[in-house]
Amino acid sequence: MEVEHTDMQRLLAKARDGLSSNGQNIFLSEILEALFGSTRVHTFTENLLMRLYEYPDREHHIEEHEVLDAMALEIWDAYKLGDKELSLRKLTKFTNFLNKHIDDEDERLSRYLTEIGATAA
Ligand SMILES: [Fe+2]
Ligand SMILES: [Fe+2]
Repeated sequence: MEVEHTDMQRLLAKARDGLSSNGQNIFLSEILEALFGSTRVHTFTENLLMRLYEYPDREHHIEEHEVLDAMALEIWDAYKLGDKELSLRKLTKFTNFLNKHIDDEDERLSRYLTEIGATAA
Protein backbone atom coordinates (compact mmCIF):
# COMPACT_ATOMS: atom_id res chain seq x y z
CA MET A 1 0.00 0.00 0.00
CA GLU A 2 2.73 2.42 1.01
CA VAL A 3 4.67 2.00 -2.23
CA GLU A 4 1.59 2.75 -4.30
CA HIS A 5 0.79 5.82 -2.19
CA THR A 6 4.30 7.12 -2.87
CA ASP A 7 3.90 6.51 -6.62
CA MET A 8 0.59 8.39 -6.59
CA GLN A 9 2.17 11.31 -4.71
CA ARG A 10 4.94 11.46 -7.29
CA LEU A 11 2.44 11.59 -10.16
CA LEU A 12 0.44 14.25 -8.30
CA ALA A 13 3.53 16.43 -7.94
CA LYS A 14 4.33 16.08 -11.65
CA ALA A 15 0.75 16.85 -12.62
CA ARG A 16 0.69 19.92 -10.34
CA ASP A 17 3.93 21.21 -11.86
CA GLY A 18 2.63 20.71 -15.39
CA LEU A 19 -0.79 22.25 -14.76
CA SER A 20 0.56 25.31 -12.95
CA SER A 21 3.22 26.17 -15.55
CA ASN A 22 2.34 28.28 -18.58
CA GLY A 23 4.28 26.28 -21.12
CA GLN A 24 2.99 23.30 -23.05
CA ASN A 25 3.81 19.93 -21.57
CA ILE A 26 3.37 17.21 -24.15
CA PHE A 27 3.42 14.57 -21.43
CA LEU A 28 0.74 16.15 -19.26
CA SER A 29 -2.13 14.16 -20.73
CA GLU A 30 -0.15 10.94 -20.20
CA ILE A 31 0.64 11.96 -16.61
CA LEU A 32 -3.05 12.60 -15.87
CA GLU A 33 -3.99 9.34 -17.54
CA ALA A 34 -1.38 7.53 -15.42
CA LEU A 35 -2.71 9.23 -12.29
CA PHE A 36 -6.22 8.01 -13.09
CA GLY A 37 -4.91 4.52 -13.93
CA SER A 38 -2.83 4.17 -10.78
CA THR A 39 -5.71 5.45 -8.65
CA ARG A 40 -8.04 2.79 -10.12
CA VAL A 41 -5.52 -0.02 -9.71
CA HIS A 42 -4.76 1.06 -6.15
CA THR A 43 -8.37 1.38 -5.00
CA PHE A 44 -9.21 -1.93 -6.70
CA THR A 45 -6.34 -3.67 -4.91
CA GLU A 46 -7.35 -2.28 -1.52
CA ASN A 47 -10.97 -3.27 -2.14
CA LEU A 48 -9.84 -6.84 -2.84
CA LEU A 49 -7.71 -6.89 0.32
CA MET A 50 -10.64 -5.64 2.40
CA ARG A 51 -12.95 -8.36 1.03
CA LEU A 52 -10.31 -11.07 1.31
CA TYR A 53 -9.57 -10.29 4.96
CA GLU A 54 -13.17 -9.34 5.81
CA TYR A 55 -12.34 -5.86 7.01
CA PRO A 56 -15.37 -4.73 9.05
CA ASP A 57 -15.40 -1.07 7.91
CA ARG A 58 -15.00 -1.78 4.23
CA GLU A 59 -18.28 -0.26 3.07
CA HIS A 60 -17.32 3.30 3.93
CA HIS A 61 -13.76 2.81 2.74
CA ILE A 62 -14.98 1.50 -0.64
CA GLU A 63 -17.30 4.52 -0.95
CA GLU A 64 -14.35 6.87 -0.51
CA HIS A 65 -12.47 4.91 -3.18
CA GLU A 66 -15.35 5.49 -5.58
CA VAL A 67 -15.08 9.22 -4.91
CA LEU A 68 -11.31 9.11 -5.51
CA ASP A 69 -11.72 7.24 -8.82
CA ALA A 70 -14.35 9.73 -9.99
CA MET A 71 -12.23 12.73 -8.97
CA ALA A 72 -9.13 11.40 -10.78
CA LEU A 73 -11.17 10.95 -13.95
CA GLU A 74 -12.56 14.51 -13.66
CA ILE A 75 -9.04 15.97 -13.47
CA TRP A 76 -8.08 14.23 -16.71
CA ASP A 77 -11.40 15.07 -18.40
CA ALA A 78 -11.09 18.77 -17.57
CA TYR A 79 -7.62 18.79 -19.11
CA LYS A 80 -8.82 17.01 -22.25
CA LEU A 81 -11.52 19.66 -22.64
CA GLY A 82 -8.76 22.29 -22.57
CA ASP A 83 -9.51 23.73 -19.11
CA LYS A 84 -6.16 23.60 -17.33
CA GLU A 85 -7.34 25.85 -14.53
CA LEU A 86 -10.30 23.63 -13.69
CA SER A 87 -8.07 20.60 -13.93
CA LEU A 88 -5.66 22.14 -11.41
CA ARG A 89 -8.48 23.08 -9.02
CA LYS A 90 -9.77 19.52 -9.18
CA LEU A 91 -6.25 18.21 -8.64
CA THR A 92 -5.95 20.26 -5.45
CA LYS A 93 -9.27 18.90 -4.16
CA PHE A 94 -8.20 15.38 -5.05
CA THR A 95 -4.87 15.80 -3.24
CA ASN A 96 -6.59 17.01 -0.06
CA PHE A 97 -9.14 14.22 -0.15
CA LEU A 98 -6.48 11.58 -0.87
CA ASN A 99 -4.20 12.75 1.94
CA LYS A 100 -7.06 12.66 4.42
CA HIS A 101 -8.09 9.23 3.13
CA ILE A 102 -4.53 7.89 3.57
CA ASP A 103 -4.24 9.37 7.08
CA ASP A 104 -7.62 8.06 8.25
CA GLU A 105 -9.06 5.15 6.27
CA ASP A 106 -5.85 3.61 4.95
CA GLU A 107 -4.14 3.98 8.30
CA ARG A 108 -6.99 2.09 10.01
CA LEU A 109 -6.99 -0.61 7.32
CA SER A 110 -3.25 -0.99 7.61
CA ARG A 111 -3.48 -1.40 11.40
CA TYR A 112 -6.22 -4.02 10.97
CA LEU A 113 -4.16 -6.02 8.46
CA THR A 114 -1.15 -5.93 10.77
CA GLU A 115 -3.28 -7.01 13.73
CA ILE A 116 -4.66 -10.08 11.97
CA GLY A 117 -1.22 -10.95 10.61
CA ALA A 118 -1.90 -10.20 6.96
CA THR A 119 1.00 -8.47 5.28
CA ALA A 120 0.11 -5.32 3.39
CA ALA A 121 2.91 -4.51 1.00
FE1 LIG B 1 -7.98 3.33 0.71
FE1 LIG C 1 -4.69 3.72 -0.28
